[in-house]
Amino acid sequence: MAENDKKIVFSGVQPSGNLTIGNYLGAIKNFSRFSEEYKTFYCVVDLHAITVRQVPAELRKRTYETLALYMACGLDPQKNTLFVQSHVPQHAELGWILDCYTMFGELSRMTQFKDKSAKNAQNINAGLFTYPALMAADILLYQTDIVPVGIDQKQHLELARDVASRFNLLYSDTFKIPEGYIPQDTMKIMSLQEPTAKMSKSDPNENAIVYILDSKDDIMRKFKRAVTDSDTCVRYSEDKPGVSNLMTIYRAFSGKSFDEIEREFDGKGYGDFKMAVGEACADGLKDVREEFARLIADKSHLEAVMKAGAEEAYGYARRTMSKVRRKIGFVN
Ligand code: TYM
Repeated sequence: MAENDKKIVFSGVQPSGNLTIGNYLGAIKNFSRFSEEYKTFYCVVDLHAITVRQVPAELRKRTYETLALYMACGLDPQKNTLFVQSHVPQHAELGWILDCYTMFGELSRMTQFKDKSAKNAQNINAGLFTYPALMAADILLYQTDIVPVGIDQKQHLELARDVASRFNLLYSDTFKIPEGYIPQDTMKIMSLQEPTAKMSKSDPNENAIVYILDSKDDIMRKFKRAVTDSDTCVRYSEDKPGVSNLMTIYRAFSGKSFDEIEREFDGKGYGDFKMAVGEACADGLKDVREEFARLIADKSHLEAVMKAGAEEAYGYARRTMSKVRRKIGFVN
């Protein structure tokens, strides 16, 4: 298919912490499935990350690491546009413009804002509040068709669609209305310590999170300590959130179905089951870990990838922005 006829995919990950198997299974692992047939943009969203205080040296380090992880998870920079959000100034520009078409009431209803402001009570800044308008800008700048994300981003995505429709209605068709791609099987990986809450890279309890780059020993230890229940039966059920979450992770890494997993551990205790989940997870991430170690050692290659990605993204973003500026009535 000619490059210009391809549908567009956009997604982003914040370089705000070490990435988890939630980020991997809910989002990044799915990115490469679009590489052949779509025009894909995968962004390291550093502008979003500063809505929460970051240590500058850490932010810089994680920006490189997130890019290297994209590549280690199978995203070839020849087939995907990989770039850093702050390298393409149109994100901030359209973000501001869309702030003016996003309602206070809409932003007040965002559950992520409510959660994050409860966790960062000393720094409830305006950026944290208007975050979804910047996310809408990321998506709409590229005339995106599909946005692969975990379920926690669904509300933001719906807001992006609403804002795009509002703008189109006011000024005639300007933005493509994007659709989400939310993987049913792995859309919400839960904390290993509190399985009714999402596994989150900002969780202070390290035992709750498995990082993509954890060593096998760490992975095994964390699964061994994972919270289950007082039962002993490996069965998928709403009233068994800990075991069900482990089954979801096991299914994703082993390819086995829930029925097969239940049969495999019939009559066995949770100990064996947890070890099997740990093994499958560590095996599934082994190649990613090795590839990451190779990529992160070559900073100049990563810089060349970011530069080429930003140039490519810039061209697309500029086209949308010139349309937006004209429609709004800015003097050219
Ligand atoms: P972020 O950085 O929090 O997470 C990156 C991706 O990982 C998914 N995810 C999960 N999926 C399943 N289970 C989990 N426990 C889990 N935790 C995280 C997220 O849904 C996300 O897909 N606002 C976004 C970044 C962003 C973006 C965008 C995404 C900015 N602009 C434009 C798509 C399009 C965020 O904070 O993701």
